[in-house]
Amino acid sequence: MHIKCNAPRRNNSLRSNKFRPVIVSQTFDSAFRQRSFFVRFAHFKELILLIKLFLLLRNKFINLLQKIFCLGYIINTMTNVTRKEKSLKIKAPIVEALKNAYETPSYQFHIPGHTKGNGSLPEFKKLIGKKALSIDTTDEFDGLGTLHPATGPIKEAQELAAEAFGAKKTFFLLNGSTAGNLAIAMGLTKKGQKIVTNRNCHRSILTGMIISGAEPLWLVPNRFEEWGIWGNVTPESVEEILKNNSDASMVWITNPTYEGVVSDIKSISKVCRKYNVPLIVDEAHACLWNFNEHLPTSALKLGADAVVHSLHKTGGSMSQSSMLHIAENSMLDVDAVEKALKLLHTTSPSLILLASLDAARANLVSPKGRKQLERAVQNAKYLRREIDKLEHIHSLKSDFGYKTDITKVFIKDDRLSGKRLESILEIDFNIEVESASDAGLLILSNIGNTRNDMQYLVKCLQKIDQTNYSDICYLENKKYMPMLTPIIKMTLREAFYSHKETVPKKDAIGRISAEVIAECPPGISVLLPGELITEEHIPYLVDYEFLEVIK
Ligand SMILES: Cc1ncc(COP(=O)(O)O)c(C=O)c1O
Repeated sequence: MHIKCNAPRRNNSLRSNKFRPVIVSQTFDSAFRQRSFFVRFAHFKELILLIKLFLLLRNKFINLLQKIFCLGYIINTMTNVTRKEKSLKIKAPIVEALKNAYETPSYQFHIPGHTKGNGSLPEFKKLIGKKALSIDTTDEFDGLGTLHPATGPIKEAQELAAEAFGAKKTFFLLNGSTAGNLAIAMGLTKKGQKIVTNRNCHRSILTGMIISGAEPLWLVPNRFEEWGIWGNVTPESVEEILKNNSDASMVWITNPTYEGVVSDIKSISKVCRKYNVPLIVDEAHACLWNFNEHLPTSALKLGADAVVHSLHKTGGSMSQSSMLHIAENSMLDVDAVEKALKLLHTTSPSLILLASLDAARANLVSPKGRKQLERAVQNAKYLRREIDKLEHIHSLKSDFGYKTDITKVFIKDDRLSGKRLESILEIDFNIEVESASDAGLLILSNIGNTRNDMQYLVKCLQKIDQTNYSDICYLENKKYMPMLTPIIKMTLREAFYSHKETVPKKDAIGRISAEVIAECPPGISVLLPGELITEEHIPYLVDYEFLEVIK
């Protein structure tokens, strides 16, 4: 049988080349030499031609070379800058420590008992990811430091945050800015003390006063009736109330409002200094202000003594995580605040939440974070410009006497209630907004939103503007949020701890409220414990069939 085999034959031919007779090689060599003369001659001619061409196009050639060098230089500098940016690694101590703990795992016989997700429901584990469960731990373990007192990476991260926000001291908060407000009330106010605060303050400030027994002296801010929202607090109104109440021991202002209306904190702080009372500013919605020149100035730079920031709202940290800052020249007793925080906080703080605060701060100070914020500002400007072109939809703008935070875009459609507009956006266009009231709705231009997001929103608003939605039969009647002056019958604390009963809403008129009834979000009170329930309140209590009243 004949077997075809190519490989050995190839080897043979190689071998035969190797032993080629010398004479063959000589013939080839001389032929080559002959050819190479002509080739070289031809090259010489080409060279002359090239030189001639070069002389002819010399200037253009030099120009081109210069351009290539320039381009190279620019590219090199740019990549050097990015390399430098990258090498300027922003520190995030808790993130680092948690990463380290993840990469050097131990056998764990401590809480949390799901032990890196091994004890979790598989569906949940799949949803949240094994890694997230692996780093779900609390302080004291894995060299992660402690929250109370702040030690290790947690202490370091709080110090970096203080530096970034321009504070003397920063506390990381779990349970949101609510925890910060409660700690201020609990640590710094006492039973019977008078606190000047705006009527539209967040319910956490009220809860704080229920805990401590301090009593509010209500500042009634400007009201923008046309928009159905609360406006700014004026320095004059603060001065008026301090002048008439020498027992007032603190001024506690919300700034900005939920809808982004900004008060003149600098002047208010001057008034507070004049009357020697500390100024606390609830800046829950303004943690970005220190990181972009187009945004208003943070109260920490305007003379406030303490400020709370809900980093989880707009700063990029995870839900529930916030910060409490004590200002450089604060007259507050910082130890008292810290002690109250320790009492209010969980004894098992989530390292994931703490790391997310650390990461949010590191992101905001980084070039990338600054770009994200600039994009949010530019997106908001774009959205506002486009809304200005619409016929029926309008946005709240800065006007005489107050400023606004540009990233909070409060809009209304003069044919529809805010809640109706919200449901159109949600049902017809798959868009979710921050909140809606009877008057309008609030859109946040966030650091995480892209220009594409905004363009889609604009397109949808344009469509709504051109569509006659008012024909739809379930159109709601506008019912603006109440702005009633409260009739106080008891202190918050007295009312909260009194005997109570529950009565049908219609029978509650003339009784004293025993509960906080707030429009949520943003948790602004309609009725507070100790206040008289009147007929005017009833239309705003649509979600309630029964009310809790004092017995
Ligand atoms: C003005 C104001 N302060 C404080 C809070 C409480 O913030 P957190 O949700 O972070 O507890 C809120 C929440 O909406 C708020 O609007």
